[in-house]
Amino acid sequence: MKIGALKESSEGEARVAITPSSATHLQKLGHEVFVQSHAGSAAGFSDEDYRKAGVTIKDSAADLIGTVDVVAKVRQPSDGEIEQMREGQTLISFFYPAQNADLLEKARQQGITAIAMDMVPRISRAQKMDALSSMANIAGYRSVIEAANNFGRFFTGQVTAAGKVPPAKILVVGAGVAGLAAIGTATSLGARVYAFDVRPEVAEQIESMGAEFVYLDFEQQTTDGAETGGYAAPSSPEFREAQLKKFRELAPDMDVVITTALIPGRDAPVLWTRDMVEAMKPGSVIVDLAAEKGGNCELTVADERIVTENGVIVIGYTDFASRMGAQASELYGNNVRHFLTDLTPKKDGVIDHNMDDDVIRGATVTHDHDITYPPPKPKVAAIAAQKPKEKKRELTPDQRRAQEVAAFKAETRSQVTMLVAGAVVLMLIGLVAPASFMSHFIVFVLACFVGFRVVWNVAHSLHTPLMAVTNAISSIIVLGALMQIGSGSAWVVILATLAVLMAGVNIFGGFLVTRRMLAMFQKS
Ligand code: NAI
Repeated sequence: MKIGALKESSEGEARVAITPSSATHLQKLGHEVFVQSHAGSAAGFSDEDYRKAGVTIKDSAADLIGTVDVVAKVRQPSDGEIEQMREGQTLISFFYPAQNADLLEKARQQGITAIAMDMVPRISRAQKMDALSSMANIAGYRSVIEAANNFGRFFTGQVTAAGKVPPAKILVVGAGVAGLAAIGTATSLGARVYAFDVRPEVAEQIESMGAEFVYLDFEQQTTDGAETGGYAAPSSPEFREAQLKKFRELAPDMDVVITTALIPGRDAPVLWTRDMVEAMKPGSVIVDLAAEKGGNCELTVADERIVTENGVIVIGYTDFASRMGAQASELYGNNVRHFLTDLTPKKDGVIDHNMDDDVIRGATVTHDHDITYPPPKPKVAAIAAQKPKEKKRELTPDQRRAQEVAAFKAETRSQVTMLVAGAVVLMLIGLVAPASFMSHFIVFVLACFVGFRVVWNVAHSLHTPLMAVTNAISSIIVLGALMQIGSGSAWVVILATLAVLMAGVNIFGGFLVTRRMLAMFQKS
Protein backbone atom coordinates (compact mmCIF):
# COMPACT_ATOMS: atom_id res chain seq x y z
CA MET A 1 0.00 0.00 0.00
CA LYS A 2 1.02 3.60 -0.44
CA ILE A 3 1.34 5.54 2.81
CA GLY A 4 2.02 9.27 2.94
CA ALA A 5 2.48 12.04 5.51
CA LEU A 6 1.04 15.50 4.98
CA LYS A 7 2.79 18.70 5.98
CA GLU A 8 0.86 19.98 9.01
CA SER A 9 -1.40 22.87 8.05
CA SER A 10 -1.88 24.31 11.59
CA GLU A 11 0.27 27.35 12.15
CA GLY A 12 3.37 26.75 14.23
CA GLU A 13 2.97 22.95 14.30
CA ALA A 14 6.45 21.49 14.09
CA ARG A 15 5.63 17.77 14.18
CA VAL A 16 5.40 15.33 11.30
CA ALA A 17 3.68 11.93 11.25
CA ILE A 18 6.37 9.95 9.41
CA THR A 19 10.09 10.38 10.06
CA PRO A 20 12.91 8.98 7.92
CA SER A 21 13.46 6.24 10.51
CA SER A 22 9.78 5.27 10.79
CA ALA A 23 9.60 5.27 6.96
CA THR A 24 12.29 2.57 6.90
CA HIS A 25 10.17 0.40 9.19
CA LEU A 26 7.06 1.00 7.07
CA GLN A 27 8.95 -0.15 3.98
CA LYS A 28 9.89 -3.37 5.80
CA LEU A 29 6.13 -4.00 6.16
CA GLY A 30 5.92 -3.94 2.37
CA HIS A 31 4.53 -0.39 2.06
CA GLU A 32 5.64 2.40 -0.25
CA VAL A 33 6.20 5.69 1.62
CA PHE A 34 5.51 9.26 0.45
CA VAL A 35 5.90 12.61 2.20
CA GLN A 36 4.73 16.09 1.23
CA SER A 37 7.66 18.38 0.48
CA HIS A 38 9.00 20.19 3.60
CA ALA A 39 6.67 18.17 5.88
CA GLY A 40 9.56 17.45 8.26
CA SER A 41 11.50 20.71 7.96
CA ALA A 42 10.26 22.20 11.23
CA ALA A 43 11.19 18.99 13.06
CA GLY A 44 14.65 18.94 11.49
CA PHE A 45 14.08 16.34 8.75
CA SER A 46 14.88 17.64 5.25
CA ASP A 47 13.42 16.27 2.02
CA GLU A 48 16.91 14.94 1.31
CA ASP A 49 16.84 12.92 4.58
CA TYR A 50 13.56 11.37 3.46
CA ARG A 51 14.88 10.63 -0.02
CA LYS A 52 17.88 8.86 1.52
CA ALA A 53 15.42 6.69 3.46
CA GLY A 54 13.76 5.69 0.17
CA VAL A 55 10.76 8.03 0.53
CA THR A 56 9.17 9.74 -2.50
CA ILE A 57 8.54 13.47 -2.06
CA LYS A 58 5.27 14.97 -3.35
CA ASP A 59 5.05 18.68 -4.06
CA SER A 60 1.60 19.46 -2.70
CA ALA A 61 -1.00 18.14 -0.28
CA ALA A 62 -3.40 17.45 -3.17
CA ASP A 63 -0.71 15.52 -5.03
CA LEU A 64 0.06 13.43 -1.92
CA ILE A 65 -3.59 12.73 -1.05
CA GLY A 66 -4.25 11.81 -4.69
CA THR A 67 -1.41 9.26 -4.67
CA VAL A 68 -1.63 7.38 -1.38
CA ASP A 69 -4.02 4.85 0.19
CA VAL A 70 -3.24 5.89 3.77
CA VAL A 71 -2.84 9.54 4.80
CA ALA A 72 -0.94 10.09 8.05
CA LYS A 73 -0.83 13.37 9.92
CA VAL A 74 -0.51 14.66 13.48
CA ARG A 75 -3.22 17.24 14.17
CA GLN A 76 -6.89 16.57 13.46
CA PRO A 77 -7.62 17.09 9.74
CA SER A 78 -9.08 20.33 8.47
CA ASP A 79 -12.38 20.27 6.55
CA GLY A 80 -10.39 20.92 3.38
CA GLU A 81 -8.11 17.94 3.96
CA ILE A 82 -11.05 15.60 4.54
CA GLU A 83 -12.80 16.90 1.42
CA GLN A 84 -9.77 16.09 -0.71
CA MET A 85 -9.81 12.46 0.42
CA ARG A 86 -11.64 9.78 -1.54
CA GLU A 87 -13.78 6.79 -0.67
CA GLY A 88 -11.88 3.81 0.76
CA GLN A 89 -8.87 5.88 1.84
CA THR A 90 -7.58 5.61 5.41
CA LEU A 91 -6.66 8.57 7.60
CA ILE A 92 -4.45 8.23 10.69
CA SER A 93 -4.21 11.30 12.94
CA PHE A 94 -5.39 12.78 16.22
CA PHE A 95 -9.14 13.29 15.76
CA TYR A 96 -10.86 13.89 19.15
CA PRO A 97 -14.19 12.47 17.90
CA ALA A 98 -16.09 13.50 21.05
CA GLN A 99 -15.35 17.16 20.38
CA ASN A 100 -15.55 16.97 16.57
CA ALA A 101 -18.97 15.61 15.64
CA ASP A 102 -19.08 17.59 12.36
CA LEU A 103 -15.68 16.32 11.26
CA LEU A 104 -16.77 12.79 12.10
CA GLU A 105 -19.89 13.17 9.97
CA LYS A 106 -17.83 14.56 7.10
CA ALA A 107 -15.43 11.60 7.27
CA ARG A 108 -18.39 9.21 7.22
CA GLN A 109 -19.96 10.88 4.18
CA GLN A 110 -16.63 10.85 2.40
CA GLY A 111 -16.44 7.08 3.00
CA ILE A 112 -13.01 7.17 4.57
CA THR A 113 -11.73 5.01 7.40
CA ALA A 114 -10.59 7.39 10.11
CA ILE A 115 -8.21 6.12 12.78
CA ALA A 116 -7.98 8.44 15.80
CA MET A 117 -4.60 8.09 17.51
CA ASP A 118 -6.16 9.70 20.61
CA MET A 119 -8.60 6.78 20.88
CA VAL A 120 -6.00 4.00 21.17
CA PRO A 121 -7.16 2.13 24.31
CA ARG A 122 -4.86 2.18 27.33
CA ILE A 123 -4.17 -1.56 27.45
CA SER A 124 -0.70 -3.08 27.80
CA ARG A 125 -0.54 -4.38 24.22
CA ALA A 126 -1.32 -0.94 22.81
CA GLN A 127 1.28 0.99 24.81
CA LYS A 128 3.58 1.24 21.80
CA MET A 129 0.80 2.97 19.83
CA ASP A 130 -0.33 5.25 22.65
CA ALA A 131 0.33 8.63 21.07
CA LEU A 132 -1.44 10.56 23.85
CA SER A 133 1.04 9.12 26.34
CA SER A 134 4.02 9.84 24.06
CA MET A 135 2.96 13.46 23.72
CA ALA A 136 2.05 13.83 27.40
CA ASN A 137 5.45 12.43 28.35
CA ILE A 138 7.14 15.12 26.28
CA ALA A 139 4.79 17.80 27.62
CA GLY A 140 5.58 16.76 31.22
CA TYR A 141 9.33 16.97 30.59
CA ARG A 142 9.04 20.26 28.74
CA SER A 143 6.82 21.81 31.42
CA VAL A 144 9.67 21.47 33.92
CA ILE A 145 12.19 22.91 31.46
CA GLU A 146 9.81 25.82 30.79
CA ALA A 147 9.35 26.35 34.54
CA ALA A 148 13.14 26.28 35.08
CA ASN A 149 13.54 28.81 32.29
CA ASN A 150 11.08 31.18 33.95
CA PHE A 151 12.18 30.59 37.56
CA GLY A 152 14.93 32.95 38.64
CA ARG A 153 16.69 30.43 40.88
CA PHE A 154 18.33 27.02 40.92
CA PHE A 155 16.17 23.93 41.15
CA THR A 156 18.88 22.06 43.03
CA GLY A 157 20.09 23.01 46.50
CA GLN A 158 23.70 24.17 46.73
CA VAL A 159 26.22 25.08 49.37
CA THR A 160 28.61 27.59 47.86
CA ALA A 161 31.23 29.95 49.23
CA ALA A 162 28.81 32.77 48.54
CA GLY A 163 25.98 31.21 50.52
CA LYS A 164 23.56 28.33 50.89
CA VAL A 165 20.81 27.81 48.31
CA PRO A 166 17.81 25.69 49.30
CA PRO A 167 16.33 23.37 46.65
CA ALA A 168 13.23 24.62 44.83
CA LYS A 169 9.94 23.12 45.98
CA ILE A 170 7.78 21.83 43.16
CA LEU A 171 4.23 20.55 43.40
CA VAL A 172 2.91 18.36 40.60
CA VAL A 173 -0.88 18.01 40.57
CA GLY A 174 -2.06 14.94 38.65
CA ALA A 175 0.38 12.06 38.32
CA GLY A 176 -0.68 10.57 35.00
CA VAL A 177 1.77 10.29 32.14
CA ALA A 178 2.60 14.00 31.96
CA GLY A 179 2.74 14.34 35.75
CA LEU A 180 5.10 11.39 36.21
CA ALA A 181 7.38 12.72 33.44
CA ALA A 182 7.39 16.11 35.19
CA ILE A 183 8.21 14.45 38.54
CA GLY A 184 11.10 12.50 36.98
CA THR A 185 12.54 15.59 35.31
CA ALA A 186 12.14 17.82 38.37
CA THR A 187 13.76 15.32 40.76
CA SER A 188 16.65 14.79 38.35
CA LEU A 189 17.22 18.57 38.36
CA GLY A 190 17.56 18.38 42.14
CA ALA A 191 14.26 19.98 43.18
CA ARG A 192 12.21 18.82 46.16
CA VAL A 193 9.12 17.41 44.54
CA TYR A 194 5.65 16.90 46.01
CA ALA A 195 2.86 15.31 44.02
CA PHE A 196 -0.84 14.72 44.36
CA ASP A 197 -3.35 12.60 42.48
CA VAL A 198 -6.89 11.45 43.17
CA ARG A 199 -5.84 7.88 42.38
CA PRO A 200 -4.13 6.65 45.57
CA GLU A 201 -2.57 3.72 43.69
CA VAL A 202 -0.04 6.09 42.11
CA ALA A 203 1.46 7.01 45.52
CA GLU A 204 3.97 4.18 45.18
CA GLN A 205 5.07 5.29 41.70
CA ILE A 206 5.45 8.86 42.93
CA GLU A 207 7.56 7.80 45.90
CA SER A 208 9.68 5.44 43.80
CA MET A 209 10.62 8.45 41.67
CA GLY A 210 11.95 10.32 44.67
CA ALA A 211 8.95 12.61 45.20
CA GLU A 212 6.67 12.89 48.21
CA PHE A 213 3.00 11.95 47.85
CA VAL A 214 0.72 14.57 49.40
CA TYR A 215 -1.78 12.68 51.57
CA LEU A 216 -5.12 14.23 52.42
CA ASP A 217 -6.81 14.05 55.77
CA PHE A 218 -9.73 12.31 54.09
CA GLU A 219 -10.92 8.76 53.50
CA GLN A 220 -9.28 8.47 50.05
CA GLN A 221 -11.54 7.40 47.24
CA THR A 222 -10.30 4.16 45.79
CA THR A 223 -11.03 4.62 42.12
CA ASP A 224 -9.91 1.57 40.23
CA GLY A 225 -8.37 3.06 37.11
CA ALA A 226 -9.00 -0.20 35.26
CA GLU A 227 -12.74 0.34 35.36
CA THR A 228 -12.44 3.75 33.79
CA GLY A 229 -9.99 2.81 31.05
CA GLY A 230 -6.92 3.74 33.09
CA TYR A 231 -8.25 7.20 33.94
CA ALA A 232 -9.60 8.76 37.13
CA ALA A 233 -13.27 9.21 37.98
CA PRO A 234 -14.62 12.61 39.11
CA SER A 235 -14.12 13.31 42.82
CA SER A 236 -16.87 14.12 45.33
CA PRO A 237 -17.39 17.75 46.46
CA GLU A 238 -16.12 16.81 49.96
CA PHE A 239 -12.97 15.29 48.53
CA ARG A 240 -12.42 18.38 46.39
CA GLU A 241 -12.79 20.60 49.45
CA ALA A 242 -10.21 18.57 51.37
CA GLN A 243 -7.91 18.77 48.34
CA LEU A 244 -8.25 22.56 48.04
CA LYS A 245 -7.65 22.97 51.78
CA LYS A 246 -4.39 21.03 51.46
CA PHE A 247 -3.32 23.06 48.42
CA ARG A 248 -4.04 26.32 50.31
CA GLU A 249 -1.67 25.13 53.05
CA LEU A 250 1.03 24.28 50.49
CA ALA A 251 0.70 27.35 48.24
CA PRO A 252 2.92 29.85 50.18
CA ASP A 253 5.69 27.26 50.33
CA MET A 254 5.80 26.15 46.68
CA ASP A 255 8.14 27.73 44.11
CA VAL A 256 6.75 25.92 41.10
CA VAL A 257 3.37 24.28 40.51
CA ILE A 258 2.80 22.04 37.51
CA THR A 259 -0.82 21.01 36.98
CA THR A 260 -1.81 18.12 34.74
CA ALA A 261 -5.12 17.00 36.29
CA LEU A 262 -7.67 15.84 33.79
CA ILE A 263 -10.50 13.39 33.32
CA PRO A 264 -10.96 12.63 29.62
CA GLY A 265 -14.06 14.06 28.01
CA ARG A 266 -14.51 16.71 30.74
CA ASP A 267 -13.28 20.22 31.33
CA ALA A 268 -10.20 20.40 33.50
CA PRO A 269 -11.09 20.77 37.21
CA VAL A 270 -10.06 24.10 38.74
CA LEU A 271 -7.68 23.09 41.52
CA TRP A 272 -5.32 26.06 41.85
CA THR A 273 -7.56 28.99 42.69
CA ARG A 274 -6.91 32.74 42.58
CA ASP A 275 -6.26 32.97 46.35
CA MET A 276 -3.64 30.19 46.08
CA VAL A 277 -1.84 32.14 43.33
CA GLU A 278 -2.03 35.25 45.50
CA ALA A 279 -0.50 33.33 48.40
CA MET A 280 2.55 32.31 46.33
CA LYS A 281 5.89 34.16 46.47
CA PRO A 282 6.79 36.61 43.68
CA GLY A 283 8.85 34.84 41.01
CA SER A 284 7.02 31.54 41.51
CA VAL A 285 5.93 29.73 38.36
CA ILE A 286 2.76 27.83 37.48
CA VAL A 287 2.74 25.68 34.36
CA ASP A 288 -0.78 24.58 33.51
CA LEU A 289 -0.71 21.63 31.13
CA ALA A 290 -4.50 21.40 31.14
CA ALA A 291 -4.82 24.89 29.62
CA GLU A 292 -6.45 23.54 26.47
CA LYS A 293 -9.36 22.14 28.49
CA GLY A 294 -9.88 25.35 30.49
CA GLY A 295 -6.92 24.97 32.84
CA ASN A 296 -6.41 23.66 36.38
CA CYS A 297 -5.39 27.14 37.51
CA GLU A 298 -8.08 29.80 37.72
CA LEU A 299 -5.82 32.45 36.16
CA THR A 300 -4.51 30.44 33.20
CA VAL A 301 -4.92 31.96 29.75
CA ALA A 302 -4.55 29.31 27.04
CA ASP A 303 -1.45 29.73 24.84
CA GLU A 304 -0.16 32.63 26.92
CA ARG A 305 2.35 33.44 29.62
CA ILE A 306 0.99 35.97 32.06
CA VAL A 307 2.48 37.60 35.14
CA THR A 308 0.07 38.26 38.01
CA GLU A 309 0.07 41.41 40.14
CA ASN A 310 2.00 39.62 42.88
CA GLY A 311 4.66 38.55 40.34
CA VAL A 312 3.66 34.91 39.78
CA ILE A 313 4.20 33.64 36.24
CA VAL A 314 1.35 31.51 34.85
CA ILE A 315 2.15 29.57 31.66
CA GLY A 316 -0.73 28.11 29.64
CA TYR A 317 0.97 26.95 26.44
CA THR A 318 -0.89 24.15 24.70
CA ASP A 319 1.83 23.14 22.27
CA PHE A 320 4.52 21.69 24.51
CA ALA A 321 4.95 18.58 22.37
CA SER A 322 5.34 20.66 19.22
CA ARG A 323 7.94 22.79 21.03
CA MET A 324 10.10 19.65 20.98
CA GLY A 325 9.25 18.85 17.35
CA ALA A 326 12.10 16.45 16.61
CA GLN A 327 11.51 14.25 19.66
CA ALA A 328 7.73 14.42 19.35
CA SER A 329 7.85 13.43 15.67
CA GLU A 330 10.15 10.49 16.44
CA LEU A 331 7.77 9.16 19.09
CA TYR A 332 4.56 9.90 17.18
CA GLY A 333 6.10 8.42 14.00
CA ASN A 334 6.86 5.25 15.99
CA ASN A 335 3.31 5.13 17.37
CA VAL A 336 1.91 5.40 13.83
CA ARG A 337 4.21 2.75 12.40
CA HIS A 338 3.38 0.35 15.25
CA PHE A 339 -0.30 0.87 14.45
CA LEU A 340 0.42 0.13 10.81
CA THR A 341 2.30 -3.00 11.89
CA ASP A 342 -0.92 -4.22 13.52
CA LEU A 343 -2.83 -3.27 10.37
CA THR A 344 -0.37 -5.26 8.24
CA PRO A 345 -0.24 -8.60 10.09
CA LYS A 346 1.36 -10.52 7.21
CA LYS A 347 3.98 -7.82 6.51
CA ASP A 348 3.07 -8.06 2.83
CA GLY A 349 2.07 -4.44 2.26
CA VAL A 350 -1.63 -5.34 2.45
CA ILE A 351 -3.77 -3.64 5.10
CA ASP A 352 -6.20 -5.88 6.99
CA HIS A 353 -8.57 -3.64 8.95
CA ASN A 354 -9.59 -6.22 11.54
CA MET A 355 -12.49 -4.76 13.52
CA ASP A 356 -12.35 -7.70 15.97
CA ASP A 357 -9.02 -6.43 17.24
CA ASP A 358 -9.52 -4.35 20.43
CA VAL A 359 -6.94 -1.73 19.51
CA ILE A 360 -7.93 -1.28 15.87
CA ARG A 361 -11.63 -1.25 16.78
CA GLY A 362 -11.07 1.23 19.62
CA ALA A 363 -9.21 3.73 17.44
CA THR A 364 -11.42 3.46 14.35
CA VAL A 365 -13.99 6.25 14.41
CA THR A 366 -15.44 5.92 10.90
CA HIS A 367 -15.40 2.87 8.63
CA ASP A 368 -17.40 1.78 5.58
CA HIS A 369 -19.71 4.84 5.65
CA ASP A 370 -20.42 4.23 9.34
CA ILE A 371 -19.56 6.20 12.47
CA THR A 372 -17.93 3.62 14.72
CA TYR A 373 -17.41 5.95 17.68
CA PRO A 374 -17.76 5.36 20.61
CA PRO A 375 -16.21 1.90 20.56
CA PRO A 376 -17.37 -0.94 22.84
CA LYS A 377 -15.40 -1.46 26.07
CA PRO A 378 -12.11 -3.29 25.37
CA LYS A 379 -12.18 -6.96 26.36
CA VAL A 380 -8.90 -6.56 28.22
CA ALA A 381 -8.64 -4.48 31.45
CA ALA A 382 -6.71 -1.23 31.38
CA ILE A 383 -3.18 -1.05 32.73
CA ALA A 384 -3.78 0.97 35.86
CA ALA A 385 -5.32 -1.79 38.01
CA GLN A 386 -3.13 -1.79 41.09
CA LYS A 387 -3.89 -2.23 44.72
CA PRO A 388 -3.97 1.14 46.47
CA LYS A 389 -1.17 1.59 48.95
CA GLU A 390 -2.29 1.98 52.52
CA LYS A 391 -2.22 5.54 53.70
CA LYS A 392 0.75 6.17 55.98
CA ARG A 393 -0.30 7.21 59.46
CA GLU A 394 1.67 10.05 61.01
CA LEU A 395 3.20 8.76 64.32
CA THR A 396 4.38 10.76 67.30
CA PRO A 397 8.07 10.22 68.31
CA ASP A 398 6.95 8.16 71.36
CA GLN A 399 4.72 5.93 69.23
CA ARG A 400 7.53 5.46 66.70
CA ARG A 401 9.99 4.47 69.50
CA ALA A 402 7.48 2.02 70.96
CA GLN A 403 6.94 0.54 67.51
CA GLU A 404 10.70 0.12 66.98
CA VAL A 405 11.17 -1.54 70.41
CA ALA A 406 8.29 -3.96 69.71
CA ALA A 407 9.75 -4.85 66.30
CA PHE A 408 13.22 -5.42 67.84
CA LYS A 409 11.79 -7.67 70.58
CA ALA A 410 9.83 -9.73 68.05
CA GLU A 411 12.90 -10.20 65.86
CA THR A 412 15.13 -11.18 68.82
CA ARG A 413 12.51 -13.68 69.99
CA SER A 414 12.33 -15.38 66.60
CA GLN A 415 16.13 -15.50 66.29
CA VAL A 416 16.57 -17.09 69.75
CA THR A 417 13.87 -19.66 68.95
CA MET A 418 15.58 -20.57 65.68
CA LEU A 419 18.99 -20.90 67.37
CA VAL A 420 17.63 -23.15 70.15
CA ALA A 421 15.79 -25.33 67.61
CA GLY A 422 18.97 -25.61 65.48
CA ALA A 423 21.09 -26.57 68.50
CA VAL A 424 18.61 -29.29 69.50
CA VAL A 425 18.57 -30.74 65.94
CA LEU A 426 22.40 -30.74 65.86
CA MET A 427 22.55 -32.51 69.24
CA LEU A 428 20.10 -35.17 68.07
CA ILE A 429 22.12 -35.79 64.88
CA GLY A 430 25.32 -35.82 66.97
CA LEU A 431 23.91 -38.70 69.07
CA VAL A 432 23.83 -41.03 66.05
CA ALA A 433 26.34 -39.64 63.51
CA PRO A 434 30.13 -40.37 63.54
CA ALA A 435 32.45 -37.63 64.86
CA SER A 436 34.15 -37.01 61.44
CA PHE A 437 30.74 -36.35 59.84
CA MET A 438 29.76 -33.94 62.61
CA SER A 439 32.75 -31.64 62.17
CA HIS A 440 32.02 -31.27 58.41
CA PHE A 441 28.32 -30.96 59.05
CA ILE A 442 28.72 -28.11 61.54
CA VAL A 443 30.93 -26.20 59.09
CA PHE A 444 28.29 -26.79 56.40
CA VAL A 445 25.44 -25.55 58.62
CA LEU A 446 27.39 -22.43 59.63
CA ALA A 447 28.29 -21.71 55.98
CA CYS A 448 24.60 -21.96 55.03
CA PHE A 449 23.66 -19.63 57.88
CA VAL A 450 26.29 -17.00 57.03
CA GLY A 451 25.51 -17.19 53.27
CA PHE A 452 21.80 -16.82 53.93
CA ARG A 453 22.29 -13.79 56.20
CA VAL A 454 24.53 -12.11 53.60
CA VAL A 455 22.17 -12.67 50.66
CA TRP A 456 19.07 -11.82 52.69
CA ASN A 457 20.25 -8.26 53.24
CA VAL A 458 20.99 -7.59 49.57
CA ALA A 459 18.41 -5.58 47.58
CA HIS A 460 16.33 -7.83 45.32
CA SER A 461 17.40 -5.95 42.22
CA LEU A 462 21.03 -6.91 42.93
CA HIS A 463 20.40 -10.65 43.38
CA THR A 464 21.24 -11.60 39.80
CA PRO A 465 24.61 -9.79 39.66
CA LEU A 466 25.39 -11.11 43.14
CA MET A 467 24.62 -14.67 42.05
CA ALA A 468 26.82 -14.16 38.99
CA VAL A 469 29.77 -13.12 41.17
CA THR A 470 29.32 -15.96 43.65
CA ASN A 471 29.07 -18.25 40.67
CA ALA A 472 32.43 -17.00 39.45
CA ILE A 473 34.02 -17.27 42.89
CA SER A 474 32.67 -20.75 43.48
CA SER A 475 34.65 -21.79 40.45
CA ILE A 476 37.62 -21.94 42.79
CA ILE A 477 37.41 -25.68 42.06
CA VAL A 478 39.57 -24.78 39.07
CA LEU A 479 42.51 -24.84 41.54
CA GLY A 480 41.80 -28.45 42.45
CA ALA A 481 41.54 -29.36 38.77
CA LEU A 482 44.82 -27.60 37.96
CA MET A 483 46.61 -29.50 40.74
CA GLN A 484 45.39 -32.80 39.30
CA ILE A 485 46.14 -32.01 35.67
CA GLY A 486 49.75 -33.22 35.95
CA SER A 487 48.68 -36.64 37.30
CA GLY A 488 50.07 -39.84 35.76
CA SER A 489 46.66 -41.34 35.06
CA ALA A 490 45.10 -40.48 31.67
CA TRP A 491 41.61 -40.54 33.19
CA VAL A 492 42.52 -38.02 35.88
CA VAL A 493 44.11 -35.73 33.23
CA ILE A 494 40.97 -35.91 31.01
CA LEU A 495 38.64 -35.23 33.92
CA ALA A 496 40.85 -32.39 35.25
CA THR A 497 40.99 -30.80 31.76
CA LEU A 498 37.22 -30.96 31.47
CA ALA A 499 36.90 -29.46 34.96
CA VAL A 500 39.24 -26.57 34.05
CA LEU A 501 37.23 -25.95 30.87
CA MET A 502 33.88 -25.89 32.61
CA ALA A 503 35.13 -23.87 35.56
CA GLY A 504 36.66 -21.41 33.05
CA VAL A 505 33.26 -20.93 31.38
CA ASN A 506 31.76 -20.45 34.83
CA ILE A 507 34.35 -17.89 35.90
CA PHE A 508 34.43 -15.76 32.73
CA GLY A 509 30.70 -16.15 32.12
CA GLY A 510 29.95 -15.15 35.71
CA PHE A 511 31.99 -11.98 35.49
CA LEU A 512 30.57 -11.09 32.05
CA VAL A 513 27.02 -11.43 33.33
CA THR A 514 27.90 -9.36 36.40
CA ARG A 515 29.35 -6.60 34.23
CA ARG A 516 26.24 -6.50 32.06
CA MET A 517 23.90 -6.49 35.01
CA LEU A 518 25.79 -3.75 36.83
CA ALA A 519 25.87 -1.66 33.65
CA MET A 520 22.08 -1.56 33.84
CA PHE A 521 22.32 0.20 37.19
CA GLN A 522 24.94 2.70 36.11
CA LYS A 523 24.07 6.08 34.65
CA SER A 524 25.73 6.51 31.26
P1 NAI B 1 -3.59 11.35 32.35
O1 NAI B 1 -5.02 11.04 32.23
O2 NAI B 1 -2.58 10.29 32.17
O3 NAI B 1 -3.30 12.06 33.73
C1 NAI B 1 -4.18 12.95 34.33
C2 NAI B 1 -4.04 12.70 35.83
O4 NAI B 1 -4.80 13.65 36.51
C3 NAI B 1 -4.57 11.33 36.23
O5 NAI B 1 -3.56 10.64 36.95
C4 NAI B 1 -5.76 11.64 37.11
O6 NAI B 1 -5.92 10.72 38.14
C5 NAI B 1 -5.37 13.00 37.62
N1 NAI B 1 -6.51 13.76 38.10
C6 NAI B 1 -7.76 13.85 37.59
N2 NAI B 1 -8.52 14.66 38.35
C7 NAI B 1 -7.71 15.09 39.36
C8 NAI B 1 -7.91 15.95 40.47
N3 NAI B 1 -9.08 16.54 40.70
N4 NAI B 1 -6.87 16.16 41.31
C9 NAI B 1 -5.69 15.56 41.11
N5 NAI B 1 -5.43 14.75 40.08
C10 NAI B 1 -6.44 14.53 39.22
O7 NAI B 1 -3.32 12.54 31.35
P2 NAI B 1 -1.92 12.92 30.74
O8 NAI B 1 -1.76 12.18 29.49
O9 NAI B 1 -0.86 12.88 31.78
O10 NAI B 1 -2.18 14.46 30.36
C11 NAI B 1 -2.26 15.43 31.39
C12 NAI B 1 -2.67 16.77 30.82
O11 NAI B 1 -1.68 17.28 29.97
C13 NAI B 1 -3.97 16.73 29.99
O12 NAI B 1 -4.72 17.87 30.34
C14 NAI B 1 -3.47 16.84 28.58
O13 NAI B 1 -4.45 17.41 27.72
C15 NAI B 1 -2.33 17.76 28.80
N6 NAI B 1 -1.35 17.85 27.74
C16 NAI B 1 -0.95 19.11 27.45
C17 NAI B 1 -0.06 19.34 26.47
C18 NAI B 1 0.35 20.74 26.24
O14 NAI B 1 1.10 21.00 25.32
N7 NAI B 1 -0.08 21.68 27.06
C19 NAI B 1 0.48 18.23 25.65
C20 NAI B 1 0.05 16.90 26.08
C21 NAI B 1 -0.85 16.74 27.09
